[in-house]
Amino acid sequence: MADSVLVMPGSTRAGSHNAALGAAIVDRLVGRGVAAEFVDLREFPLPLFDPELEAADGVPAAARRLHDLLARHAGLVIVTPEYNGSISTLLKNTIDWISRVDRSVLQRPVVALASASPSSKGGATGRASLRAMCDHMGVGLLDRELGLARSHEVIVEGVIDDGQASAEIDAFVAAVAEAFG
Ligand SMILES: Cc1cc2nc3c(=O)[nH]c(=O)nc-3n(C[C@H](O)[C@H](O)[C@H](O)COP(=O)(O)O)c2cc1C
Repeated sequence: MADSVLVMPGSTRAGSHNAALGAAIVDRLVGRGVAAEFVDLREFPLPLFDPELEAADGVPAAARRLHDLLARHAGLVIVTPEYNGSISTLLKNTIDWISRVDRSVLQRPVVALASASPSSKGGATGRASLRAMCDHMGVGLLDRELGLARSHEVIVEGVIDDGQASAEIDAFVAAVAEAFG
């Protein structure tokens, strides 16, 4: 298991703010000499979790591939959208399927949460919901989180275009890098 970080945004929307934030995190980790990989969940299409489907067909190959990808990284940054005060359906569904392969694979040595939202709270409620889920699954998280508020204003054509937001991303990335010791 290499000292590398998988950055997983929970949105596949074209123009996703969370994907833009995830890309910025990857760039800055690499800039600090930390290997990092962006995962586009569109490459891991999964049906809506259904125990009947699982009983009939087993766990989809895409869930096994994603499990194996996670296992190859020591670090994980989950970048979650906030939907109705929780995480996106895509992210919840993805985590549920991975947990049917082996939920302990999410217990990477370094796991951190980030989010981007047009609201002034930057997706804090969604992150709290994800933190509770991670606690339940035995996934230890960095105390340091990142919330990109007013994402529709600070992300311009997929790029972070705001000095304060940029400084916050840098501080978060530094904390992730330092967590590797
Ligand atoms: C069904 C739905 C519920 C949402 N609920 C919230 C919410 O509770 N809090 C929030 O800050 N934004 C909420 N939003 C707005 C999303 O944060 C916004 O669409 C964001 O851009 C989605 O992430 P993405 O750009 O990465 O796709 C909601 C959007 C949708 C479609």
